Amino acid sequence: MDRRKFIASVGGASALAAMSSMEKADALEYAMTEELDARIVRPGICTTYGKEPMNAPKAKEGAKFMMGHDPRLPLMSDKPTLIEFFEKRFAPANHLLQSGALALKAGLPEKTVLACLLHDIGGATVMRSDHGYWGAQLLEPYVDEEVSWAIRHHQALRYFADEEVGYSYPEAYIRYFGEDFSPEPYIHEAAEYAKNHKWYMTARQICINDVYSFDPNAVVSLDMFIDIIGRNFKQPEEGLGYDNSPTAHMWRTVIFPNNFL
Ligand SMILES: [Fe+2]
Ligand SMILES: [Fe+2]
Repeated sequence: MDRRKFIASVGGASALAAMSSMEKADALEYAMTEELDARIVRPGICTTYGKEPMNAPKAKEGAKFMMGHDPRLPLMSDKPTLIEFFEKRFAPANHLLQSGALALKAGLPEKTVLACLLHDIGGATVMRSDHGYWGAQLLEPYVDEEVSWAIRHHQALRYFADEEVGYSYPEAYIRYFGEDFSPEPYIHEAAEYAKNHKWYMTARQICINDVYSFDPNAVVSLDMFIDIIGRNFKQPEEGLGYDNSPTAHMWRTVIFPNNFL
């Protein structure tokens, strides 16, 4: 932490000089925690759809841990489809629907529309940090490789402008992350790799249709995507979560987000 900021936080240089080393260490730890609190909105590592886990400390003595269907969440069927996930877990999914609708309106190929429609489901379902990678992995067994590739790489590309194709650095990111923010080196490397890939524009279209997709007044519905999902998403007969695919467990976590184990 910045030395001057720290000295100011304890009331100046003379106040600092009067402190014992133990007090100084405590003050530094406190100041660093404060600084962290001022900077971060802490994301949940794994979403529980706004419900507290039932094993929260305030639970009554003798209460059982949550296992199975959480009665506070919409009950999911034994063979859930992607549509059912949209209705019972991603809802209202306005941002996703708006992104898909913009891609549809722009006359983009169906694969690109699907990629826009699903681009943030990693963050909406399991994990917010590195959401592009999580979303791509979740979808990989069920979509064309181009779709999951694009979702994976929108994660990195959204931090880098490409004015030639109509994508500026999002003004919101300056507010969210600060003027001087630069992503980690792995993000720079991933963006560089994606820029030179044949599917670059598919991933870039996600970014283009993403930035404008936060209109609270837009009227969108999943209905306009039912056919595109039908043609481009390989819905497993056993239901998502129960088909033994490499990511079935991730879908199950979305079905049962509050299970104790
Ligand atoms: Fe995203
Ligand atoms: Fe997004």
